[in-house]
Amino acid sequence: MDKVVLAYSGGLDTSVLIPWLREKYDFDVITLTANLGSEQDLDAIRAKALRTGASEAFVEDVRDVFVRFFCWPALQSGALYEGTYPLATALARPLIAKLLVDVAHRVGARAVAHGCTGKGNDQVRFDVAVKALDPSLRIVAPVRDYQMHRDEEIEYAREHDIPIPVTIDSPYSIDENLWGRSVEAGILEDPWIEPPENAYTWTKSPLDAPDKLQYVEIEFEEGIPRRLDGEALDGVELITRLNRIAGEHGVGRIDHLENRLVGIKSREVYEAPAAVVLNAAHSELEKLTLSKDQARFKAKVAAEIADLIYNGLWFSSLHQDLAGYVARSQRYVTGVVRMKLYKGSAQVAGRRAQHSLYDHSLATYAKGDTFDHKAAEGFISVFALPLQTQAHTQWLGRSSDEILRLSAGVGGQGSEDGA
Ligand code: ARG
Repeated sequence: MDKVVLAYSGGLDTSVLIPWLREKYDFDVITLTANLGSEQDLDAIRAKALRTGASEAFVEDVRDVFVRFFCWPALQSGALYEGTYPLATALARPLIAKLLVDVAHRVGARAVAHGCTGKGNDQVRFDVAVKALDPSLRIVAPVRDYQMHRDEEIEYAREHDIPIPVTIDSPYSIDENLWGRSVEAGILEDPWIEPPENAYTWTKSPLDAPDKLQYVEIEFEEGIPRRLDGEALDGVELITRLNRIAGEHGVGRIDHLENRLVGIKSREVYEAPAAVVLNAAHSELEKLTLSKDQARFKAKVAAEIADLIYNGLWFSSLHQDLAGYVARSQRYVTGVVRMKLYKGSAQVAGRRAQHSLYDHSLATYAKGDTFDHKAAEGFISVFALPLQTQAHTQWLGRSSDEILRLSAGVGGQGSEDGA
């Protein structure tokens, strides 16, 4: 019997897949469960896989790898999909794909499998990442092949004596890891309806959040968070604590109408308290430590990287190139940012950096000003030169009212020769 390594979460979809892969595809099924920080009983998941027919069940704790090689580089880059989504689900997929490939090599399997449908981004991310790491592996996606539906899955699970998870009562489809929680389906499919409170589990409603503000200080070294309120913490611990603290204040709820890679617009709800606070703090620190030109160019890189991550191209050469640029850009992004959390909002309260480009003697309006005011005059005469030339030649005879209208894009069609 050929072996297949199945990405196994212990949920309904992937539990059904164990007997399904044996019956319909004639596979010997080996499962791989990645611990990415969602609080689950991994021993129970492993036992369930074996009980349901897996011949071997691997569980790998990759929280540290996930943080160091995925969350931190994404944070340094500033990548937010469509300016909003911190990409928790999207970042985890290439890592799970890597584990699938490694286990396949270890056990001598020629195929890997996942439980993604044919409508989402995750199928693309798994497939593309596996093809990048070992193009010779066969990829099996039974939910996509058979267009399995929930009711059929439940029916099939009953027939095969597979315990149906209690979370089956949840009206949502949920994916979670340290970096965030993604919630979709059910009532959320109506973009007009506000997400009900039961869509959220990591964050308090701002209404129930403490009526007291809380400051948190995040210390970065070269763009990586190292201390929380002065205490040195490893990445997993820092994110875990910050998720709890910020979530308690209702920070990190995201309601996003998103463009999937497969062409569908979809309403997605996210909870990412730590990712939201850290992204805001990190970009504040960059405001102190990057030049205007660096910051502008890096924003373009961030948008590009966000698309690459979202579209499953983490292992691509372009991403490798851009990741190199991002890493290099962080060499002075060292310092502390103080954030203020209060009833759903996270705002910057203060920032300082050893290599800050902020020069008080240049900025101040008070005594001690070192800026050369005379130099401004000469600068402006050069800076305004193109405009002055246009005024002399193209706008001759136009009234200020006319120029006001033209500058608002209103009226004034045709030539602007002033005739
Ligand atoms: N829309 C998000 C993304 O594509 C979240 C997907 C959630 N996945 C899931 N299996 N519920 O990254």
